[in-house]
Amino acid sequence: KPSKTEALDRKNAEALLGGGQKRIDAQHTKGKLTARERIALLVDEGSFEEIGKFVMHRTKDFGLDKEYYLGDGVVTGYGTIDGRLVYVFAQDFTVFGGALSETHAEKICKLMDLAMQNGAPLIGLNDSGGARIQEGVLSLAGYADIFYRNTLASGVIPQLSAIMGPCAGGAVYSPAITDFIFMVENTSYMFVTGPNVVKTVTHEEVTAEELGGASTHSTKSGVTHFACANELACIQHIKQLLSYIPQNCEDQPPMLPYESTGDESRPALDSIIPENPNQPYDMREVIEAIVDTGSFLEVHKNFAENIVVGFARIGGRSIGVVGNQPAVLAGVLDINASTKAARFVRFCDSFNVPLLVLEDVPGFLPGTDQEWNGIITNGAKLLYAFCEATVPRVTVITRKAYGGAYDVMNSKHIGADMNYAWPTAEIAVMGASGAAEIIFKREIATADDPQAKLQEKVQEYTEKFANPYRAAHRGYIDEVIYPTETRQKLMRAFQMLENKVATLPRKKHGNIPL
Ligand code: COA
Repeated sequence: KPSKTEALDRKNAEALLGGGQKRIDAQHTKGKLTARERIALLVDEGSFEEIGKFVMHRTKDFGLDKEYYLGDGVVTGYGTIDGRLVYVFAQDFTVFGGALSETHAEKICKLMDLAMQNGAPLIGLNDSGGARIQEGVLSLAGYADIFYRNTLASGVIPQLSAIMGPCAGGAVYSPAITDFIFMVENTSYMFVTGPNVVKTVTHEEVTAEELGGASTHSTKSGVTHFACANELACIQHIKQLLSYIPQNCEDQPPMLPYESTGDESRPALDSIIPENPNQPYDMREVIEAIVDTGSFLEVHKNFAENIVVGFARIGGRSIGVVGNQPAVLAGVLDINASTKAARFVRFCDSFNVPLLVLEDVPGFLPGTDQEWNGIITNGAKLLYAFCEATVPRVTVITRKAYGGAYDVMNSKHIGADMNYAWPTAEIAVMGASGAAEIIFKREIATADDPQAKLQEKVQEYTEKFANPYRAAHRGYIDEVIYPTETRQKLMRAFQMLENKVATLPRKKHGNIPL
C-alpha cells in the first residue's frame, strides 16, 4: 500500500476511536452507545457519509494545545432512513464529554445549512457536558449560531432531537426549538441549571433524574414528547415518526400503499359511547378503530393526558390526530392540554399533515389555578393554531361539544373542511343540568317541588340541545354519521381534500398569544 494511503488509514482509525477505547468502554459501562454506534442504528446500513471527520479544535488555553481529537466531539453527516435523505449529528461524549467548542458548533452549523438548502430532516443525537468550558465565549457563540439556524429552519425542515446523555445549560435551547424531543429513560437529563445550583439558590435537594430525567419531562413539564425505554427504542421512535412526515414544508407526507378489504365498517364504534353521558370511555379506542391497524404513534403520551395527539394513517395516508380524552378529567381543556395540542397542530400544518379532530369536550377547566396561570392565553393558542391551519381539517364530534370549546376544537366556523357528528353528539353552550339551573333559576326556586322542576327542565334542555341536529340544520355539521361508517367517511373525506389550496392573508408573521 502506498504510504500516503496508509497515513489516511491511520487517521481514519484514529477518528473512529473518538476519545479513545477507555472512554468508549466507560460509555458502554453507563449503558450508553457511542455516537457512531447510534448513527449506525439510525440510518440505512452503509448509507452514512461523514462530513468533517478530521476537524480539530483551535484552543490553546488550559492545556488544550496538547489534547486534540479528530472530529472534535461530534460526528456529522448524511445518510438515508427507509431510503429517504436525512442529516444527522451525534455528539461524542468520549471527547471532552461531548462538550461544544467553536469548531464542534461549526460542524453542526455546516450540516444545518446543508439540510436547509437541500430540504431534508435534521436529526440531532445529543450527549454533551455543555459549553466547552476552556473556550469561554467562543463556545457560547457556537450555541447561538445553532439556535439561530434552528429558528430559521423551524417550519422549513423537520428537526428532531434525541437526548441520550446530559443536556444542560444553554445546550437545552437547541432541542427546545426543534419539533420533537426524544429522551432515554435513566440515562439522559435536561435542565437549565443542575441540582447543585438548584440547591444553592432554592435550597431544594433534587437528583438530576428527578429534576430533568425522561420521566419528569414526559409527565410534569412536557418538554419531551417521547420517553424511550432505551437507546434502541429511542432510535426506532425517531424512524417511525419520520415515516409520517415529509422531507420539508414543500413536500407531501409519504403515502403508503393501501389495499382495502372492501369492508371499512367498524361496528365496535357503535357501542363505544356509554349510555350515561357522564361515563368515560377511552378515546384511544376510537382512534385505533378508525385508523389503519397499528398505525397510531402517540405523541406526548403521558403529559396532559386529557387530550390525545399523535400521527396515524388512514387508507395509507398520513394524518395528525387530536382527540379529547373523556377518560382523563372528562376530556376537559386545560392549560397543558391546550399548549400540547396547539404545538402538535402547528407542526402538522407546517408540514402538510392533514388533521383529524375527535371531539368530546365538556369545556375548559375551571379554577383559580387555571385562571391565574393563564388559561385564557393558553387556550387561545389552540384556537389560534386551528384557525391558522390550512391543511385538510376534519372533525368528528363523538359526544360533548360544549361552549367555547366547541368553537376551539376545529369547528366549521374556524375553517374546518368537513364536520361530522355521531348521533350521540351533544352540541350546546353547556351541560343540560348547568344550563337548566341558570336559565330556569327562578322557575325552579319558586316551584312546589324544585327538584322535580329541575329534572323537568334538564330534560327539556337535553331534548332541545343534547343532540347534533340543531347544528346539522344550520350546516355547521355536514353530516350526522353512524359511528360504524366513520372510517369509510374519513377515508373519502381526506381523499377528497387531498388537493386543498388555502392561503392566509399576507403578513410578516402572526402574533400567536405566547
Ligand atoms: N467542557 C469541557 N470538558 C468537559 C465538559 C465541559 N463542559 N463537561 C465534561 N467535560 C469532560 C470532563 O472533563 C471529562 O474529561 P476526561 O474524560 O478527560 O476526564 C469528560 O468530559 C467526561 O466528564 P465526566 O465529568 O468525567 O463525566 P460524568 O459522566 O461523570 O459527568 C457531566 C458528566 C456533564 C455531569 C459533567 O461532566 C459536568 O458537570 N460537566 C460540566 C457541565 C457544565 O457545567 N457545563 C457548562 C455549562 S453549559
